[in-house]
Amino acid sequence: MIILGVETSCDDTCIAIIKTNRANFEILASFVSSQEKLHAGYGGVFPSLAKREHQKNIVPLFVKALRSAKMLEKNNEGLDGKKIKKLEAILERNPELFTQLKVFLEKYKKPKIDEINVTIGPGLEPCLYVGVNFAKALSFYWDIRINGVHHLEGHILANYLDQNIKIDFPAIGLIVSGGNTQIVLMEKLGKYKIIGETRDDAAGECFDKTARLLGLGYPGGKIISELASKVKTNNFVIKLPRPMIYEKNLDFSFSGLKTAVLYETKKRTPEELESNEYREEISKEIEDAIIEVLVKKTEKAIEKYNAKSVMIGGGVSANKKLRKEMKGIAKKRGIIFFAPKPKYSADNAAMIAIISLLSPNIKKTSWNRIKPNSNLQINGI
Ligand code: KG4
Repeated sequence: MIILGVETSCDDTCIAIIKTNRANFEILASFVSSQEKLHAGYGGVFPSLAKREHQKNIVPLFVKALRSAKMLEKNNEGLDGKKIKKLEAILERNPELFTQLKVFLEKYKKPKIDEINVTIGPGLEPCLYVGVNFAKALSFYWDIRINGVHHLEGHILANYLDQNIKIDFPAIGLIVSGGNTQIVLMEKLGKYKIIGETRDDAAGECFDKTARLLGLGYPGGKIISELASKVKTNNFVIKLPRPMIYEKNLDFSFSGLKTAVLYETKKRTPEELESNEYREEISKEIEDAIIEVLVKKTEKAIEKYNAKSVMIGGGVSANKKLRKEMKGIAKKRGIIFFAPKPKYSADNAAMIAIISLLSPNIKKTSWNRIKPNSNLQINGI
């Protein structure tokens, strides 16, 4: 059986193809078309620009994935005129995508895809629509089963990509990305409960916004983390708050940290702000503040729910300090720790393709019932 994964919830266009016998799976292709450089000038993702890029890139990326999976075959049968009319209606809001898809369908045969999984939320609505409409169009034209899946469930299940894992339940999942920061209690695969979340900015957003304040570029997480790793001393002058760290609840708040960084920069001369020493020191303090809070609250969750495993997922889970600290608390408590392979921390479609293999949440639906939900909750999906 072959499953196609489609993911466009934020600024990465992602396509993956997996082959499975239900017990095991193999990733035949997993490609990401990143828009990082494009959004750098805005210091964050600009939704209408991201939508335009998804529309432009999704068909070429699909062709690349099919070619890499050796599933691209020439078509000699021409187009089905009636179906093309309907396809145009499905892609009414994405005319550029329709034009590209029509050319593609005329040129290539239906590949042996048995199922399509597409992210329906959470995410940026204009972006989600591109992936969903693209998947609906293929599902309709080729008569392939389609499943609308949850982006954050994908980030949890990314732990299964290229590694053999066995999760002991109950498990705690920390999902940390540019748009979300949540602690999730997992009773089993597919059964999730949000037990803590950010009340304002996501952890990745805090990295990105503080990096922007400091003129470091986008996305901020990786840049801040690299600068932080250059610091050799512990004699810091800069002290930032660890928001909500001593509160009993499992929630987070990162917007105050961003404001604290703003006030800190106001005390500095332009020369200081430009200096490597200052940039490295403040980066270290920002990273420490964010990671300490994430780890402390996750540890509280492990204790409260007597968890037997802990896992991380999402773009910020690529952070080396976070991985090291989480491994440390898991070891201290004698429980298992999982982190995705770094290349699967960020958005990808392989994690979307495997959802229907691993999660019991998949319900049979028709292509015309699938629609995006930018605020889709992982509770009770
Ligand atoms: O999951 P993701 O690829 O996209 C969504 O937000 O859905 O996450 C992107 C976020 C950005 O905020 C980026 O700054 C952060 O992940 N990030 C990191 C690191 N690499 C990426 N944050 C901290 N340390 C990193 N090494």
